[in-house]
Amino acid sequence: MPYVKVKELLAMGKKNNACVLAFDAADINMIKSVIKGAETAGRPVIVMLYPGMRNIMPFGVFAEVTRYYAERASVPVGLHLDHCSDFDMILEAIHEGFPSVMADGSVLPFEENAAFTKKVVEVARNFDVDVEGELGHVGTAADSDEFSRKEFFTRPDEVREFVEKTGVTSLAVSFGSAHGLYKSTPKLDINHLKTLSAATDIPLVLHGGTGIPDDQLAQAFSNGINKINIGTEFFNLNTRLNQEFYAQDFSKADPFGFPEYIQPRLTEYIAGRLELSKIVL
Ligand code: 13P
Repeated sequence: MPYVKVKELLAMGKKNNACVLAFDAADINMIKSVIKGAETAGRPVIVMLYPGMRNIMPFGVFAEVTRYYAERASVPVGLHLDHCSDFDMILEAIHEGFPSVMADGSVLPFEENAAFTKKVVEVARNFDVDVEGELGHVGTAADSDEFSRKEFFTRPDEVREFVEKTGVTSLAVSFGSAHGLYKSTPKLDINHLKTLSAATDIPLVLHGGTGIPDDQLAQAFSNGINKINIGTEFFNLNTRLNQEFYAQDFSKADPFGFPEYIQPRLTEYIAGRLELSKIVL
């Protein structure tokens, strides 16, 4: 079936008051497992690439591999470039076949963030490419309690202006999450999220999906979050499985054995996480 625009997947999420899960991937085993996991769960999914990982798989290769498997999948699959703050690199990704990109100006002051994001949207529009912006700042969990600091939270009074000024398709917002492994259990501020979703009709995105308890995710998904990004958890599992495989008797570590070992295990993880997505196809 379908290689689908991220915008359409997010619209599906909004219509169902539910969430599309998006996973960062770095190689063919991870891409295949995300798509296979989605098929197993019967849910749509988004495959994402961190720009820095184009050294492992160049933009064009990553896009083509994802498109190849997406077109043969039984569920809708989207492709998205994750966090990118470099205008030229975003253009390169679009040129190489990414139909959806994130323009991350979240460390900039409001006006500069809006100007950068608008510039990306103006170019992206010509190629029918979706753009996710970020307002407020989702920090790094390792940096102590950054994720719970309200000064990083997205301000509801700025949301409407940012969306109107930039024309983004979706917006990543900050209300208590952070990237990476949390030092203590995070506590999403769902009341704050409600004020953000009341300020705009566009789908909102939750970053830092690793380590947030499922009951909090469910609340976020029924209060305006239509896309969640998950990275660390998936990469860590991938690394652990690599270690496990190569720690075995070396005669088993053959080129055919590795994908056979790793893909079903990654697929099982993805299918399990996708239980969270209540999107009915
Ligand atoms: P985690 O690595 O914390 O899951 O966050 C991923 C993310 O938000 C990527 O944009």
